[in-house]
Amino acid sequence: MATVFALLLSLPFVRARQVSISINASQQFAELPPIARFFGCDEANYAYYPDGQALLSDLGHLGPHQTYFRTHNLLTTCDPSDAVTPRLKWGCTNAYTEDAAGNAIYNWTVIDRIFDAYLANGVKPYAQIGFMPKVLATDAEPYTFAFEASSPYDDIYTGWSHVPSNWHKWGELVYQWVAHEVRLRGVEEVESWYWEVWNEPNIPYWNGTAAQYFTLYDYAVANVRRALPTARVGGPEVAGGPGGTFLQDFLQHTLAGPNAATGATGAPLDFLSFHAKGSPLWLNATASAPAHLQMNLSASLQNVRDAFALITTFPSLKTTPVIIGEDDPDGCAACESPAYGYRNGLVYPSYTAAVFARDLELARAYGVQLQGALTWAFEYDGHAYFDGFRVLATNGVAKPILNVFRMFGLLTGSRVGSMSSGQVPLDNIVAESVRGEADVGVLASFNRTEKKLAAMMWHYHDDDLPKPDARVCLEVSGLDAVLTTQERGDGASSPHGGSVLLTHYRIDSSHSNAYTVWQAMGSPQIPSREQYAALQAAGMLQVLGRPERVAVTKGRVEVEFELPIHAVSLVVVEL
Ligand SMILES: *[C@@H]1O[C@H](CO)[C@@H](O)[C@H](O)[C@H]1NC(C)=O
Ligand SMILES: *[C@@H]1O[C@H](CO)[C@@H](O)[C@H](O)[C@H]1NC(C)=O
Ligand SMILES: *[C@@H]1O[C@H](CO)[C@@H](O)[C@H](O)[C@H]1NC(C)=O
Ligand SMILES: *[C@@H]1O[C@H](CO)[C@@H](O)[C@H](O)[C@H]1NC(C)=O
Ligand SMILES: *[C@@H]1O[C@H](CO)[C@@H](O)[C@H](O)[C@H]1NC(C)=O
Ligand SMILES: *[C@@H]1O[C@H](CO)[C@@H](O)[C@H](O)[C@H]1NC(C)=O
Repeated sequence: MATVFALLLSLPFVRARQVSISINASQQFAELPPIARFFGCDEANYAYYPDGQALLSDLGHLGPHQTYFRTHNLLTTCDPSDAVTPRLKWGCTNAYTEDAAGNAIYNWTVIDRIFDAYLANGVKPYAQIGFMPKVLATDAEPYTFAFEASSPYDDIYTGWSHVPSNWHKWGELVYQWVAHEVRLRGVEEVESWYWEVWNEPNIPYWNGTAAQYFTLYDYAVANVRRALPTARVGGPEVAGGPGGTFLQDFLQHTLAGPNAATGATGAPLDFLSFHAKGSPLWLNATASAPAHLQMNLSASLQNVRDAFALITTFPSLKTTPVIIGEDDPDGCAACESPAYGYRNGLVYPSYTAAVFARDLELARAYGVQLQGALTWAFEYDGHAYFDGFRVLATNGVAKPILNVFRMFGLLTGSRVGSMSSGQVPLDNIVAESVRGEADVGVLASFNRTEKKLAAMMWHYHDDDLPKPDARVCLEVSGLDAVLTTQERGDGASSPHGGSVLLTHYRIDSSHSNAYTVWQAMGSPQIPSREQYAALQAAGMLQVLGRPERVAVTKGRVEVEFELPIHAVSLVVVEL
């Protein structure tokens, strides 16, 4: 404790670190892929609970690009004694049962409730075909489990993870499901979804061999396509980047392997997916630092780098969209530990900004068509406020992390050239994470339709410790050349001279931060009506100061501001 105080007391005397960030609005590249609009969770059923629906509505309206949701347990069987009550790492729908004679009984009621909740809130399914219904699992018992935050992770690997006892019944189930969706939602709607097969089949989520997964994939995909020939299909949602040789073997199978379902060579693959996870630690006190949380984003970026490197060895996949189907700071949303203490505060959003910007940089370096980076975090209705889980909102109150996705939603259009004197170079951050100087990075875009330039800037370090602010000098140049003469018009706000409207969105300890407000209230678990309203307001994306007109000189604007450690800024310049 003494060390913490010493650090805090010494801070006012530490000079802010000077950082220059320059953006050249006329240096425009290809569209910045809108990767931060994919979300997911284990617990399928919370989608139609009140707080679940409210959060889906937030996610469905993050920006102009379509949001997708991936969930486990869409085909899992409920316990007969159990209502369809969601609980940690569990969900169920009873979509498939059989009568005493072994005839299939399909019931889409619960899946419909889940997908209705998505679609009503502007979200589309990234539909996961899994897990195994109890009557189809080769080794079904035990099937259900009761997971708690402190449970050993392996407790979850029960009958749902098993190989089907009958491949034709498995294939028919997939066909009936997709045919149902096409009847209910229409061809055009279902064509806009993603369909993927299972989760992390290279670890015990799949109680079979790789070859058996390829068979599972072949039957699933052949039957998705039988119901809807234009459906978008992919996988394999492998854990740990390439997952040893799993991704490689899978890609070889889809390109040239024998198709178990059709007898053809290879299998359709419209998009490919793998997972990337960081590895945070709780460090004990040392002579130089108090006990604290330390993130490790290179663990995650190395997964991404290794998967991308593999993908580029398959020339025929050069244009295949790639989705990081889970891209998170750690491996278990429903677990609690001191090392997961980053989830309520500023470390999580600043980490996400720093990592997603590097995912995009790696995609450009490897020439990979990165389409999405999926955040495995949703919410748990009826849990305590700001408990230790990896969730985006708590009792209907948005956590700071949700605001970084609102910022990403405003970052649209072409990527524009940007440079920060404080940004850790790509190779260094992939190799060593951020252990030396903090990462003061920038990612910028220009949306021609809206005539808006947006620049996201973050101040990230792996250690959750106090650090001096960054004193950012931001220069945006090239504003004069960015619009055609016609687009410029002759208004007083012409970027020739005149001014532009500058809005500075901010996530820090006093902006877009319901957590600090809740703590200042004394961390109430039963907030009053007024407190609840204040928490909801604090959870919104907020502006630093207020929007202001800034003078443009020779196509340039300059602003200076302090960027505290683990804060994120989004500066929007409207021409
Ligand atoms: C900005 O980019 C444009 C187009 O690439 C280039 O011509 C110009 O020299 C750049 N300006 C600066 C200040 O780097
Ligand atoms: C289908 O499932 C729903 C929800 O579990 C249930 O209420 C309904 O009775 C089932 N329908 C049939 C025909 O069994
Ligand atoms: C499959 O499940 C059985 C228990 O039914 C377990 O003993 C075995 O280790 C599991 N195998 C794999 C590959 O996960
Ligand atoms: C911190 O100390 C505890 C108790 O001595 C120990 O179990 C743990 O492994 C230590 N953590 C690290 C990261 O060294
Ligand atoms: C981060 O995690 C990776 C992968 O687990 C590990 O190899 C590396 O040593 C860690 N980096 C640091 C700086 O601890
Ligand atoms: C630019 O913004 C408009 C309005 O929000 C949006 O419809 C459009 O998709 C954006 N352009 C790009 C390329 O993201």
